[in-house]
Amino acid sequence: MLTNLVGRSAVVTGAASGIGLALAHRLANEGMDLAIADIEGGALVAAEAELRGTGVRVLAVQLDVADEASVEGFATSALGAFGPPALLCNNAGVGGGWSPIWTATRKDWDWMLGVNLMGVVHGIRAFLPAMIEGGEEGHVVNTSSVAGLMTGPGQVYGVSKHAVTRLTEGLWYDLEAIGSRIGVSVLCPGIAATRINTAARNRPSHSFDEGRSIDESRALFEAMEERYLATGMPPAEVADILLGAVREGRFYVFTHDWVLGSIERRTAAILDGMQPPTLPGPAPEPGSGPVQAAPTSPTPGA
Ligand code: NAI
Repeated sequence: MLTNLVGRSAVVTGAASGIGLALAHRLANEGMDLAIADIEGGALVAAEAELRGTGVRVLAVQLDVADEASVEGFATSALGAFGPPALLCNNAGVGGGWSPIWTATRKDWDWMLGVNLMGVVHGIRAFLPAMIEGGEEGHVVNTSSVAGLMTGPGQVYGVSKHAVTRLTEGLWYDLEAIGSRIGVSVLCPGIAATRINTAARNRPSHSFDEGRSIDESRALFEAMEERYLATGMPPAEVADILLGAVREGRFYVFTHDWVLGSIERRTAAILDGMQPPTLPGPAPEPGSGPVQAAPTSPTPGA
């Protein structure tokens, strides 16, 4: 359990927008120094300036979390500047990919698993050994999604987030086994009002298949996701919920209760041994009040 934040440091990836940016602000307000990283240069520079304005020390590095060497370089700089972080937030992620599984290309898989799954793996490998060796209390947060707990059609995204959930559970057991003072949480947001619907803005050109353009992917994804995100929780609220969970030492961190029904239905279907669960009805229209029911397709969060 992480109780003392003041004067210690946090690492946040994907900190130039959405949940990561809100979290960085929340942690700066707690008096934590920040090592932040993001692939989007302009937004990162703006975030760095805003965060410095709060009076904390900030190290900002532009990188692709899918690139192991870049994450290792980031860790070398961050550990040199602030020592082992108290809080490691592997948050950077990209969404999309609702087409049937057999239509996703190798490059679709490489991009999404590279960022959403391997980005988390690289963050853990680069920072966690120093945190363990430092011997102080600390905490690791990996951002999964409700899509990493529930089920549904297609979706490379959902596959990547299930992997993050399982990876994070594994990490919890591993740290327990060595009696470490480092806690672990998996953040599983429902719908948050962020820029995840334009995730393709950060897809490197080499990761597109010949004949498919970034604009094509963008148009598809933005149109499908926009109305769901309009009903989303403000990222600052997600950051508040997360910080409360870290302080309480809670592992599974939800932002929307409706995910619990989806987990129950999936578990019942598994125990029944027949087919995956029937999906619930359509989501409410934007502006019709707080989201109570689980949206069907697309799976929330990307
Ligand atoms: P966002 O798009 O507003 O922020 C994501 C940040 O990650 C951006 O600043 C982006 O530039 C950065 N990023 C993307 N690819 C990167 C890469 N390869 N290397 C480094 N940085 C990279 O989206 P949001 O929603 O704040 O996403 C944060 C996390 O929350 C993601 O892991 C996402 O999957 C997860 N999530 C979001 C939900 C939502 O409804 N917004 C719901 C469930 C999970």
